[in-house]
Amino acid sequence: MTTRTLDAPTASLLLEWYDRHHRDLPWRVSPPMAKRGIKADPYRVWLSEVMLQQTTVPAVKPYFANFLAKWPSVIDLAKAPSEEVMAAWAGLGYYARARNLKKCAEAVASEYGGIFPDSEEGLKSLPGIGDYTAAAVAAIAFNRQAAVMDGNVERVISRLYAIATPLPAAKPLMRQKVALLTPADRPGDFAQAMMDLGATICTPKRPACSLCPFNGSCEALRLHDPDQFPVKAAKKEKPIRRGAAFVAVTSEGEILLRRRVESGLLGGMTEIPTTAWTARQDGETSAEAAPFEAGWESAGTVTHVFTHFELRLSIFRAAIPAPVQTNDGWWEPVTNLEAQALPTIMKKAIAAAIPLAFKTAKG
Ligand code: ADE
Repeated sequence: MTTRTLDAPTASLLLEWYDRHHRDLPWRVSPPMAKRGIKADPYRVWLSEVMLQQTTVPAVKPYFANFLAKWPSVIDLAKAPSEEVMAAWAGLGYYARARNLKKCAEAVASEYGGIFPDSEEGLKSLPGIGDYTAAAVAAIAFNRQAAVMDGNVERVISRLYAIATPLPAAKPLMRQKVALLTPADRPGDFAQAMMDLGATICTPKRPACSLCPFNGSCEALRLHDPDQFPVKAAKKEKPIRRGAAFVAVTSEGEILLRRRVESGLLGGMTEIPTTAWTARQDGETSAEAAPFEAGWESAGTVTHVFTHFELRLSIFRAAIPAPVQTNDGWWEPVTNLEAQALPTIMKKAIAAAIPLAFKTAKG
């Protein structure tokens, strides 16, 4: 058997590919735009990077467009009422990020006159900006030679060098490799090109290696086994928690909502009345835990996977003639639910009881 020798991977191989095959994204200054003298807007870059940590590019696009329409600048976002920001974020998940997003906007507005700091260190001093966001914004918005590493980049780099150490232990080595490859010229395009390559060519399963600019340099391809990388440590099974949640609907079509306490999971978001979520098998999952007496009927179970546990909520529904007096919460018309800061689990729970409550009840 002949063993092929590999060419060293270079940034210019990837940048040439990016010039031809980059994705056009609403927050991106693509190479043709840059040629026309258009500069990246740090606010758009920051906002998109924070949103993209939650979910995929297609899912982020409508949220990004909505935020920009409502708050075109970081100063507008700083001035926005928190509840409106939380409501606009609802559905993206990890709600602490939305609270930090608002705090960060306030800090940029009050401490920096609305101008984002232009270095990794300066950015990292802001609320909610960690290593990833600081590097991404520094590279993409300010052309700093920062090593940007997200899940896509980890996959590309782990294959390029056939890194056998499992994640997350391999991260420092991966970062070192990314740093060595990141060029002084066009570091922002390089970072975005690595992400685009990971999203479109170097995909988790069945990567399109024949189209890859690194196919003459990739150790995993030489070993005929790109799918095996990145190597991951065995996953622990998530514990299951249970609870019950209650959808009371008046004859006028209003439902009872509450605000969750500020701290902790889904802090400050809106919910329907729910019991504590417990790991105990005998946890409160029956109508006995309802906020008031009514003809509660089962409306099935919904599940949602959080970072540290899986939640199974038993849903109960009651039709009542008029709002019941409660000391926490308010009665909201079902037609106005889209405007509420309801996290996905709560949308699923309401949709189980009222199937048409949301035009698009996301799973
Ligand atoms: N994923 C996260 N940030 C991204 C970016 N700037 N371009 C493409 N995909 C991304």
